[in-house]
Amino acid sequence: MSYKEQQTLDREKIAKSFGLASQSYDVSARLQRFSGKHLMPWLPKQNDLTVLDLGAGTGFFTDLLASSYTQVIGLDFSKDMLSFAQATRDKSIHWIEADAHKIPLQDNSIDFIYSNLVIQWCEPLDVAINEMLRVLKPGGLIIFTTLMDGTLHELKSSWKQVDDDQHVIDFKTEEELAQLFNHDGARVIEHKCQDIVLEYQNVIHLARELKGLGANHLPQKRNRGLSGKDKWFAMIKHYQDFLEPSGIYPATYRLYSGLVVKVNS
Ligand SMILES: C[S@@+](CC[C@H](N)C(=O)[O-])C[C@H]1O[C@@H](n2cnc3c(N)ncnc32)[C@H](O)[C@@H]1O
Repeated sequence: MSYKEQQTLDREKIAKSFGLASQSYDVSARLQRFSGKHLMPWLPKQNDLTVLDLGAGTGFFTDLLASSYTQVIGLDFSKDMLSFAQATRDKSIHWIEADAHKIPLQDNSIDFIYSNLVIQWCEPLDVAINEMLRVLKPGGLIIFTTLMDGTLHELKSSWKQVDDDQHVIDFKTEEELAQLFNHDGARVIEHKCQDIVLEYQNVIHLARELKGLGANHLPQKRNRGLSGKDKWFAMIKHYQDFLEPSGIYPATYRLYSGLVVKVNS
């Protein structure tokens, strides 16, 4: 299978995994709510704008954007996420089922793109960035969050002591993100990095939350079945090294928030 075909297949699997989570997503999305709200101060004050919510999911933030801006488009490649969004959110929103790597919108047609916790799933990311820049008007903004390398390091290192398979997706570093967005046609004008540590009653609670969010497809995973019970117990034992005195299991999310402007190249 060619690299391109493999990427397409991976994206179909990611979309399916998110689709399966469309009903449970909103109750599990505490990190997503935090990060999405965190972007609000960067939103333009002017209202007569055309906005694209890229990777809109269940449309929680698309709905918020629709209360402030004239034309709001929610794009996602998961049919089930879009069906949920369409049934529950503001009727003025225009929904598009499409891949961020091939956005079916005209060049220079969007004033700003809002994208909360999506681009960590976009591979190759440079193709998705080129698409965002193509549809943005000159001077338009990309206002986004993503997760960086070091995210879920507790889970990753606990599994590492059990086997060599992939159990956490590969996240980009801060330097890689800066390089990708400080592009010929774009500049990062502000960015912020912060560690968010969420608390879990146990490791199963963490695994259920990731599944409930649909964030459980691992493109590089070799062993596609469930990891054996013995492996799970071994991993959980290693995770106990992170157990806090209060009996809580922490999981770290390294959040990158970026404000990017499209410049004339
Ligand atoms: C973690 S959810 C975030 C949803 C929403 N932005 C929020 O803040 O709740 C990621 C969403 O991005 C979508 N997504 C991931 N990769 C995508 C791609 N290449 N093209 C379009 N949508 C994508 C998924 O289907 C999922 O709905």
